[in-house]
Amino acid sequence: MKVCFASSECVPYAKTGGLADVSGALPKSLAALGVKIKSFMPLYNLINIADYDLKPDPINQNIQIHMGRSSHIFNTWNATLPDSQAQVYFIDCPDFFHRDKLYTNHPDEAERFIFLQLAILRILQNEQWAPDIIHCNDWQTALLPAMLKLSYRWDNLFEKTSTLLSIHNIGYQGRFSRDSIYGAGLPYQHYFPGGPFEFYDSFCFLKAGIVFADKISTVSETYAQEIQTPEFGAGLEGVLHQRKNDLTGILNGIDDDFWNPATDVHLPQNYTWENLTKKRQNKRELLQDAGLQYDVKIPVIGMISRLAKQKGFDILQPVLQKVIQQPVQFIILGTGEQEYEKFLRQMACDYPDKIAVTIGFNEGLAHRITAGADMFLMPSHYEPCGLNQMYSLNYGTVPIVRQTGGLADTIIDRDAHPKNGNGLSFTRYSSESLHAALLRGLKLFKNKNVWKKMIEQGMQADFSWNSSAKKYLKLYKSLQKTEK
Ligand code: ADP
Ligand code: GLC
Repeated sequence: MKVCFASSECVPYAKTGGLADVSGALPKSLAALGVKIKSFMPLYNLINIADYDLKPDPINQNIQIHMGRSSHIFNTWNATLPDSQAQVYFIDCPDFFHRDKLYTNHPDEAERFIFLQLAILRILQNEQWAPDIIHCNDWQTALLPAMLKLSYRWDNLFEKTSTLLSIHNIGYQGRFSRDSIYGAGLPYQHYFPGGPFEFYDSFCFLKAGIVFADKISTVSETYAQEIQTPEFGAGLEGVLHQRKNDLTGILNGIDDDFWNPATDVHLPQNYTWENLTKKRQNKRELLQDAGLQYDVKIPVIGMISRLAKQKGFDILQPVLQKVIQQPVQFIILGTGEQEYEKFLRQMACDYPDKIAVTIGFNEGLAHRITAGADMFLMPSHYEPCGLNQMYSLNYGTVPIVRQTGGLADTIIDRDAHPKNGNGLSFTRYSSESLHAALLRGLKLFKNKNVWKKMIEQGMQADFSWNSSAKKYLKLYKSLQKTEK
């Protein structure tokens, strides 16, 4: 089984969110199952070549790609994913990928990712490497199925290649001017109201992917159902519903090489469920670094998040002020929308002994919060999968979540299920429900035996990629056109 895995971000090289964690971990697990895997991503200037021992690709250098009236040249670098056989190809085109962020609002944003996809196909052609599956992820690589079906049919290399599109977040759709269709080398005839390329008067990469991919997956079973409804489908529910027989949900997993409290290199103190007192040392140092007072009896609630509406900050705003009157501390790490950054900064100023906020992206701190906090809060409006709740479970930090998407599939409310509860969850997306869940958490925290049991429940569960990678392999096999 040969798989081309296309993604715009990948751990450890470049990351804005969970897509990078998945792109780093899934190919690794698939390679361990015997899949020959080549991953592709841009060489952003934020990636330091020396840090990762990238090597110039022996074949794919100085390659010109035509896009509409312009043309651009790229070089290619190679690496293998750490601790793995999976190969990674980095597309090096400074014109497009030397920017101050991975994703931009620049006028050529569409061209940047069209270029990435054309470059991927060119490399496959240069190497005459025919994948059984091209696995694309989110809008940034969602045009590949349309490209294969509509503009690369002449190339027998791809005769037996099938495509899978994984949707990690339907809220990000890649909608651009229709002019980009020419640059992508795609036929304009598919752009008409309600047609495969058109979505509210724009050329929509994700919609094209949903229409042309052979199969579609998303990152939890609940989200696979949710996105077929108007509340969660972000306008694409109709197209998805039409393809419901080809749509599946496969839960993400945890990469144990990076997110394991027993070996995590970012922690002051490693620990396991059999040695929970050591977790306290992490709490102590976390609070010290944050400038907050340590008290074993006061619970610390951690949050690590893109500061986006999706993540529930609008219902959190009115609650934070109320709940902070209780004996509790918050440690929050995030970056994103200004409105929420401003709000959090203000809260940290108003309650300096109770709330510590770090605005920015900080991998090490993310690990230390996951280990040092007592609870982890994710009041998401929607959450396709969510990784932080699984990381928290693994680190003995009790998640408090809204019951949606992957959060609904991983967190069992302790009050509703006293025997096997591993966290707390609430259903209605409202400040009142969030407030009630937080108060339940603070109350439960006082009951040492119950708390310890919940922690153990979480830490002993298996959220590794093993079972999910096997599900992807099964999906690939169902699409395989060559001899099995
Ligand atoms: P999403 O992909 O929607 O952002 P996930 O829960 O799937 O949500 O994954 C988020 C990932 O990004 C996790 O690994 C989380 O620790 C990380 N992350 C989010 N914000 C930050 C930040 N400010 N600093 C460091 N890591 C972050
Ligand atoms: C997205 C989702 C998140 C998911 C991640 C990886 O960014 O918002 O819920 O875990 O992708 O699939």
